[in-house]
Amino acid sequence: MKVALITGITGQDGSYLAELLLEKGYMVHGIKRRSSLFNTDRIDHLYQDPHDPNQRLKLHYGDLTDAMNLTRIIQECQPDEIYNLGAMSHVKVSFDSPEYVGNVDGLGTLRILEAVRILGLEKKTRIYQASTSELYGGLPENKNERGFYDENSPFYPRSPYGVAKIYGFWITKNYREAYDMYACNGILFNHESPRRGETFVTRKITRAVAKIALGLQDKVFLGNLEAKRDWGHAKDYVRMMWMILQAEKAEDWVIATGITTTVRDFVRMAFEEVGIEVEFKGEGVNEKGFIKSIDKEKYEAATGMNIDQQTSNNENRTTNNEEGSSNNENRTTNNEQPTIGKEVLSVDPSYFRPTEVDLLLGDPTKAKEQLGWVPEYDLKGLVKDMMQGDIAIMKKDVDLLKAGHQILKQLE
Ligand code: NAP
Ligand code: GDD
Repeated sequence: MKVALITGITGQDGSYLAELLLEKGYMVHGIKRRSSLFNTDRIDHLYQDPHDPNQRLKLHYGDLTDAMNLTRIIQECQPDEIYNLGAMSHVKVSFDSPEYVGNVDGLGTLRILEAVRILGLEKKTRIYQASTSELYGGLPENKNERGFYDENSPFYPRSPYGVAKIYGFWITKNYREAYDMYACNGILFNHESPRRGETFVTRKITRAVAKIALGLQDKVFLGNLEAKRDWGHAKDYVRMMWMILQAEKAEDWVIATGITTTVRDFVRMAFEEVGIEVEFKGEGVNEKGFIKSIDKEKYEAATGMNIDQQTSNNENRTTNNEEGSSNNENRTTNNEQPTIGKEVLSVDPSYFRPTEVDLLLGDPTKAKEQLGWVPEYDLKGLVKDMMQGDIAIMKKDVDLLKAGHQILKQLE
């Protein structure tokens, strides 16, 4: 049985990767930080009782800042493959804790490589390093002749996170060249899912739109609406991580969709999933989003809630049916259900970054041609998956409120 070790197993990618490797018959070890709460929500469905003799998922307490602990875990597991996904992965937060990010995201990578070398596992253990499109920094002059970032594009990181990750990139490449280790960088562009951390922009948007649609929240505050990202689905990207370590030769790979979209358009697409059309007015910090129209049928199908007839603008608007009158029973908070003209978005400059990456657009040609990677999700499919996930979560909150319980605020 092949053995894999995943750092960052409690994160978005770690959870999908663990799922994939278990399906493929691997014994999976994961490193989990000690925290005052369980923090295993994303892998709860995979978790097995440690007393089960056929256990194929085992968690170890550890931290990327602790070399002795990493060395001991690697010695115990004797992994065929290590996926180093652990990181403080939030770009904006990296400006608040730059030293910590350097330690975890930069030196943490070195600690893994060095442990494998010290233990004499260089020829046994293949290593995947979670590198990132943040390395490019979005500089227009560094794109290739076709307008994309690829494996040969120069780097220019624009955050402490990016700078720490560039150390991780180069130390991985250096250990490959210096010690002939099978160590690869996956230069992954943004990838999202219903399991995405709640403070990354896509998830912040899908959660807020679900809440606004269900009358749990009035509006959302965002930062730079002009930023463009190349967004894919995390499920497609973890499959690629595995494929990278199965390749004959250790190399570095760009994984992306080749399509870039503004934050503003992501907002539009998320609202569309619940039948709401949003229009934007004003510029810069004064830009705001308003509800332009509501497709009653689509709204009700997506949310399972009725809506006041006067608030929707499709043909059913004038029909005097019973659904409209029962609407008020669905109201569970002081916030209102969506109505035409309602302000649902404002810009808050506190979400701006000291240095921003304006645009990311990757060229996945090498991965597609040489490894046969075919993503299953496009952006519309991704947004749909995320919206369905968040509507389901928020509907539970509606039920809790109806039953007189409290719900978590989870504000940022
Ligand atoms: P994520 O959801 O934020 O997960 C990060 C994981 O790292 C969590 O399990 C976290 O544990 C763990 N971690 C944080 N600090 C650690 C430490 N000091 N020691 C050990 N583990 C630690 O991130 P993700 O989206 O899954 O991304 C996975 C990796 O890919 C990261 O390295 C990220 O930088 C990189 N990446 C992500 C994207 C993307 O768009 N998602 C793109 C390119 C590269 P807790 O649960 O305890 O916090
Ligand atoms: N988080 C956040 N919150 N971002 C916002 C907001 C907001 O309210 N409003 C606008 N944005 C903009 C950010 O300024 C950025 O330009 C863009 O939305 C995406 O931000 P994030 O979703 O936080 O992701 P990121 O691109 O900075 O970083 C993610 O992708 C990298 C790969 O390119 C992270 O997953 C990194 O770990 C990853 O390496």
